[in-house]
Amino acid sequence: ITRIGLIGAMDEEIHQFRLDLETEEIQVRSGITFYLGEINGCFVVLCKSGVGKVNAAVTTQILIDVFDVSHIIFTGIAGALDEQLNVGDLVISTSAIQHDIDATALGFERGQIPMQSSSSIFMPDLNLVDLAEQAANKVLSCRVIKGRVLSGDQFIADIDFAKKLKLDFDGSCVEMEGASVAQVATMSERPFVIIRAISDNANDEATMSFTEFTELASQQSYLLVSEMLRNI
Ligand code: ADE
Repeated sequence: ITRIGLIGAMDEEIHQFRLDLETEEIQVRSGITFYLGEINGCFVVLCKSGVGKVNAAVTTQILIDVFDVSHIIFTGIAGALDEQLNVGDLVISTSAIQHDIDATALGFERGQIPMQSSSSIFMPDLNLVDLAEQAANKVLSCRVIKGRVLSGDQFIADIDFAKKLKLDFDGSCVEMEGASVAQVATMSERPFVIIRAISDNANDEATMSFTEFTELASQQSYLLVSEMLRNI
């Protein structure tokens, strides 16, 4: 039985979904509010994780352990690293990595979780990726790319740092939750995908752009994901 865990980090990222949700039940765990109900004929547990990797990890584990979700979709906004991306464009994850993990002093690669035999690059479910791509083709006319999502507990607003991230990790966009959701989902063998719309270019204008375009970008991600829910 399909039960979608749908996560956004901020109010703006889940607002439209809440308007659509025919809520049957609200539950609070660890200070996070979970809204259970239907969107477009699909059973959904919707929540706002809060910003950053710890909030995202806790939220994802609760979705799995308490609400027994079958799939996890993250919807939200990101800074662009790929130069062909503009504000409002979309990234569908093909992999996710935590760019701020650094045990290079111990001989590990940047982004590699030390002393862990499994990969530190987390792979989404290919069916969800396909579904996202089909939904994008149907409802969006902006650029939509498939690429790697980089996550860290840092808001990136520095063009040199953004370029280095792109070069070092081959990322398409940077945000603060996706790879954390991805790791927790992978540990519990739950299929996931991360959908991110661009709010800024992670450069020196990122703060202004983020403020101005959070809502627009959130709406773009919403359009894609709500079409996905129709077909899941
Ligand atoms: N989310 C949106 N823009 C971002 C940025 N520049 N850095 C980190 N997370 C973001």
